[in-house]
Amino acid sequence: MPHHPQLFRRSRCAMRPTIPRPFQVNAEDSAMPLRLIQLSDLHLFGDPSATLLGITTRQSFEAVLSLALAQPDPPQALILSGDLVQDASAAGYRYLRERLKRTEIPHYCIAGNHDLPALLTEHLGAAGLGAVALRRLAGWNLIFLDSSAAEQVSGVLTPTQLEQLAALLAAETAPALICLHHHPLSIGSTWMDQIGVSNGAALLALCERHPQVKAVLFGHVHQAFAEQRGSCWFLGAPATCFQFKPRSVNFALDDQPPGYRELTLYPDGQVRTRIVRLSAYAEIPLPQAGGY
Ligand SMILES: [Fe+2]
Repeated sequence: MPHHPQLFRRSRCAMRPTIPRPFQVNAEDSAMPLRLIQLSDLHLFGDPSATLLGITTRQSFEAVLSLALAQPDPPQALILSGDLVQDASAAGYRYLRERLKRTEIPHYCIAGNHDLPALLTEHLGAAGLGAVALRRLAGWNLIFLDSSAAEQVSGVLTPTQLEQLAALLAAETAPALICLHHHPLSIGSTWMDQIGVSNGAALLALCERHPQVKAVLFGHVHQAFAEQRGSCWFLGAPATCFQFKPRSVNFALDDQPPGYRELTLYPDGQVRTRIVRLSAYAEIPLPQAGGY
């Protein structure tokens, strides 16, 4: 399997018009659906002009975030599903903290294989979530898991995380959304399926046993993905920078523009979701890139 050393090193990874109008957000009002935006795999650098595989990652993140915030109904929360900073730089995390703060929207950040969890929590403060975290919004339980493992590209959930998740799901019957960086199931891409959550089957079994888990949200795959198992959706998101080609045997970049996932969670447990991408993006990923 070809690897791109810079990427593999754990760094030490038809718009509607804007209609301005007042929008009262009350995340505690359980009669209202909850609108969320998932932003994933930013791969930012401390240097604003730094590029990765031909993409100026800060610029593409800014463009995707602006697109998300330009939609008529603003989200009640932003979920950033890992690979936030590529170069283990405090400057990268500080930039992200300030940029997210300016949105004035609650945001939740989890680590990916390219992040340094300690640096992430140091600089993102309360927005940086640990091994297992629960946030209650609009009658939903948002459960965040850190699937990153030091010096590994693939992910893992520790026995303690799985025990805590099982206890949480046994005690809490409200509809739940689980968020983590790595994919816990096959996405039909041979090279990517070797670097998902190594014990993803344990998470799948928990979801099967607890039907209040309506969706599992992940990043890492740099592509749109959706599969329903039982009553639970497994959803992957595009990256805010370069994309990977779906169902590819070996590493391959896709020419789809950067984007994000939008979710609407209803009080009765229904989930509606869609992928939104930039209509065009000036930069294209390097065609000669040989691995990730
Ligand atoms: Fe990534």
